[in-house]
Amino acid sequence: MLGQPVTARACANIALVKYWGKRDAVLNLPATGSLSLTLAALATQTTVTFDRALAQDELELDGFSARFADTARTSTFLELVRAAAGITMRARVASRNEFPTASGLASSASGYAALALAASKAAGLKLSERELSILARRGSGSAARSIYGGFVRMHAGDTSESAYAEPVTSSLVDRVRMVIAVVGGGAPKSHGSRDAMEHTAATSPYYRPWVELVPKDLDAALAALATGDLEALGTIAEANALAMHASAMAARPAVIYWQPATIAVHNEVRGLRACGVAAWATMDAGPHVKVLTTEEDAPTIAMRVKDIDGVTAVTISASGPAASIVPPA
Ligand code: PMV
Repeated sequence: MLGQPVTARACANIALVKYWGKRDAVLNLPATGSLSLTLAALATQTTVTFDRALAQDELELDGFSARFADTARTSTFLELVRAAAGITMRARVASRNEFPTASGLASSASGYAALALAASKAAGLKLSERELSILARRGSGSAARSIYGGFVRMHAGDTSESAYAEPVTSSLVDRVRMVIAVVGGGAPKSHGSRDAMEHTAATSPYYRPWVELVPKDLDAALAALATGDLEALGTIAEANALAMHASAMAARPAVIYWQPATIAVHNEVRGLRACGVAAWATMDAGPHVKVLTTEEDAPTIAMRVKDIDGVTAVTISASGPAASIVPPA
């Protein structure tokens, strides 16, 4: 198997209860748990080949040689896989996103989940889903959740071994949709999530209250999933995202991801909700808005937000599957 290319596919996920802040930067241990929905429409496919002839790791993103910083981060991650497999061979990694890279559409989640699966298999490791989730977490906190499909809960854990994600069953999984409103054409984001969450933790007076809030939101969201109460889930998701952004905005200097179109989409969502449409907004480290809704209401929301000035693309996504190996063609 070593030396053979292995391809894996993973879908991005959008957090309904966010992860924003770490307890340990080296192990990438989150300060709190989180909860997400894996999305079918946002997938990454990654091929890894360990090759004796390579002097260093190589990374290609969407068909182009990656920037030095991205290659270095991938190489640091591959070191973990090499150490676990007891090999020293360098690897060629080719990754393709089905959506704009680094636009705040969580490409690091699908990217590191696909890389963890492809690289571990290519290195000859046989990891359980939990071990894969722990490995993916070392690449990016949110990637630990993209190992699974549907609703996924991440545990904060006390140690590296206890900070993993696991799936949460809910009758809502087939009913829910996410309407993704891309704001600003998928331009690279102003602050990467890694630096921005560290800066928030170090300087925001609202960071502590945020960390205290998350376990309560997580419990309430899990209860809503258990009873299939979409309205309760949506209400928590929207409030939690706003609390995360409030903590980031209060950082010094401020971290502001919002654009005028971001606010316009939020206003549209509130207006639709007042008219009885199932719609709740959430946002990550970028200006885009993701609207949690139902299969029936998703087309109405998509139609209303696509004409907002500054919204450059709208996608409707259903819940997505777990990360998987793509058989050779
Ligand atoms: O996995 P990272 O380091 O890109 O952080 C993700 C942070 C958010 O997307 C803003 C929230 C989350 O829980 O996914």
